[in-house]
Amino acid sequence: MRLLFFSALTTSAAQASGLATSGWDAAYSKAQAALQKLSQAEKAGIATGVTWEGGPCVGNTYAPSSIDYPSLCLQDSPLGIRFANPVTAFPAGINAGATWDRSLLYSRGVAMGAEAKGLGVHVQLGPVSGPLGKNPDGGRNWEGFSVDPYLSGVAMEETIRGMQDSGVQACAKHWIGNEQEVNRDTISSEMADRQTHELYVWPFMNAVRADVASVMCSYNKVNGTWACESEAILNELLKNELGFRGYVVSDWNAQHTGVNSALAGLDMTMPGSDFNTPRGSIFWGSNLVEAVANGSVPQSRLDDMVTRILAAWYLVNQDQGYPEVSFSSWNGGKASVDVTADHASVARAVARDSIVLLKNEAQTLPLRQPKSLAIIGQDAIVNPAGPNACTDRGCDNGTLAMGWGSGTAEFPYLVAPVDAIQAQADKTGTQIITSTTDDAAAGAEAAAAAETAIVFINSDSGEGYITVENNPGDRNNLDPWHNGNSLVQSVASSNKNVIVVIHSVGPIILETILAQPSVKAIIWAGLPGQESGNALADILYGSTSPSGKIPYTIAKQRSDYGAGWIYAQTDSFTEGLFVDYRHFDKNGIDPRYEFGHGLSYTEFAYSGLSINVLATSGPTIGSIISGGPVELFESVGTVSVHIVNNGSVEGAEVAQLYIGLPESAPLSPPKQLRGFEKVFLQAAGSGTATFELTRRDLSYWDVTLQKWVVPSGTFRVYVGASSRDIRLQGTFSVAS
Ligand SMILES: *[C@@H]1O[C@H](CO)[C@@H](O)[C@H](O)[C@H]1NC(C)=O
Ligand SMILES: *[C@@H]1O[C@H](CO)[C@@H](O)[C@H](O)[C@H]1NC(C)=O
Ligand SMILES: *[C@@H]1O[C@H](CO)[C@@H](O)[C@H](O)[C@H]1NC(C)=O
Ligand SMILES: *[C@@H]1O[C@H](CO)[C@@H](O)[C@H](O)[C@H]1NC(C)=O
Repeated sequence: MRLLFFSALTTSAAQASGLATSGWDAAYSKAQAALQKLSQAEKAGIATGVTWEGGPCVGNTYAPSSIDYPSLCLQDSPLGIRFANPVTAFPAGINAGATWDRSLLYSRGVAMGAEAKGLGVHVQLGPVSGPLGKNPDGGRNWEGFSVDPYLSGVAMEETIRGMQDSGVQACAKHWIGNEQEVNRDTISSEMADRQTHELYVWPFMNAVRADVASVMCSYNKVNGTWACESEAILNELLKNELGFRGYVVSDWNAQHTGVNSALAGLDMTMPGSDFNTPRGSIFWGSNLVEAVANGSVPQSRLDDMVTRILAAWYLVNQDQGYPEVSFSSWNGGKASVDVTADHASVARAVARDSIVLLKNEAQTLPLRQPKSLAIIGQDAIVNPAGPNACTDRGCDNGTLAMGWGSGTAEFPYLVAPVDAIQAQADKTGTQIITSTTDDAAAGAEAAAAAETAIVFINSDSGEGYITVENNPGDRNNLDPWHNGNSLVQSVASSNKNVIVVIHSVGPIILETILAQPSVKAIIWAGLPGQESGNALADILYGSTSPSGKIPYTIAKQRSDYGAGWIYAQTDSFTEGLFVDYRHFDKNGIDPRYEFGHGLSYTEFAYSGLSINVLATSGPTIGSIISGGPVELFESVGTVSVHIVNNGSVEGAEVAQLYIGLPESAPLSPPKQLRGFEKVFLQAAGSGTATFELTRRDLSYWDVTLQKWVVPSGTFRVYVGASSRDIRLQGTFSVAS
């Protein structure tokens, strides 16, 4: 018995690399010294964009002449560098989340940050934990990692540390309550206080704790006030309560007033001037200088904006020989340097380890040298017009490997599933029969001629400025696109051995497909990026056991979720704390595939639950550090469990810890994810998963005290392979 690999406790890969967390103090000293040399106009210029298409990047600021500081280049996206090539088209956030692998999350961040820096991008606009994904049909959920705030928070932290260790400034977005595309520019998100903290703020606490350089305020209103001019969410929540020392940048055109936004805590406006009425009006720039001169914005506020922006630049050492911008977003994006290095291997590893094996009857997978294999569906091939044929990936033609909108990048290439499978089939002498349209009759015909049939289906979504097949960014329904259910039904009627592969932005309803007895296996491959086919073949042929776990719940029907996007100007977030599995648990609804579910080609046995937690009840009282009150991040002990790989192949298990709060924390979800560990084990190997708990993990937000509070009483501990496959349970108590 040998332990292949085991990442120690919850210490991040990044923390182990030794990033100093006290970097802000030194950065502020440098920024304050530089500030003294700047004129008022230069200060305003550092906080103001030069207009849309006014520079090579999607956002550019004015360069001062008094100090050695550039026109800052801000560029999309959370999965790679938009409007530039060649770059690596990484798997989307939702796939990164589905790996539950801290070290891969970190590596993906490192690789993305290296590409950004290589191209001269100072600020990469990601990662995303807003939307969090409370609406299963929300258009941009896939840009983020998971609907669970804990998983999303860990992913934010690892990604940001990775990006910033490579030298680029990360930008955590969108702050806050930006949960749908329809009416996003006008809707008011009215989240209750506890809900705001425990769900939507939580992942941003991790981001701030990871010293994120910037945070982007969102398009929507919060309680009737624009997010980018809300004192409550900028100055109070983000800067005071979370101790955020970087700068707040507006989403593009999300600024609505000059003076109010400055007073509320906005620090940088993007893209500077444009779509406002009248076109070309500028809220800041010279108007900000005037607003300080006439006393409506204090000098200290302008100085604070600039100090924060400069400090973020110093924090990640961009003062030390940072590359020039080497592409232009507006002329095809051809870069004068190739920054892709060996990042395809990280992209492939994330794509592979995010694949979730939802169902695998009679050990249909991995494939064992079938004589013939039918590959069916348009989603198995690359769009014949090319993987980048549609601007910002705004169509669902060919295999789906990215959603649409600003959160995209150009594919340098896209490995089609059919091509990667063909390459394997060539080795094993398998005959491949294809039907690469979504025509049901043609699919059935191809399937009838083969031993096994693999059907590819998908479901797309994206940002609301593009409508695809009548979906306005948000999805109209949770069914597979292009009559995917009919395609599968038809194939299943002519072949007894059907495998379904899903490329999707989020959950799809699988009941029609599961009703076909011929459907033996179902794989969710998400939005895998450029290495799509290669990653899939690694799993189909068993060179790697699947180890992804679904980062959201798959329901039996759309209405089981409770929440969903709405055609309204106010979203009252009436679901409260009960999103995704919290909702299913509370209401006793059986999901089809629960949050955290994912099969392997081996099996894991859990034993020896050990609980060593010692905490005191009560609210936080200490000082604020980056992320929130200092005690929140202090360890209160560990829970650990022994795991045995009792199958015949190596594999990785994501062991999950859920905590149920005592009744003295009223109206809390039955259980909430508060730890996970991905343990890699050889066949017959064993290891220990140890979950380190912090005070935050035991706390709820007390709206009366306005503090995080550890309740007294009996805490329930659940450890298992998913949110419903609980293998071991225990309790610990906290005295009052
Ligand atoms: C928004 O309003 C709700 C309901 O009054 C309140 O609980 C919440 O704290 C408010 N949010 C902010 C950020 O002020
Ligand atoms: C001060 O200047 C700003 C920017 O031009 C303007 O919006 C604001 O109305 C002015 N306030 C006063 C009191 O003059
Ligand atoms: C996408 O597919 C549709 C429907 O087949 C077709 O009309 C359109 O031209 C295709 N667009 C691209 C860019 O491939
Ligand atoms: C391996 O462990 C799983 C989970 O406890 C169990 O269901 C299965 O029967 C075990 N298999 C063997 C071969 O022991």
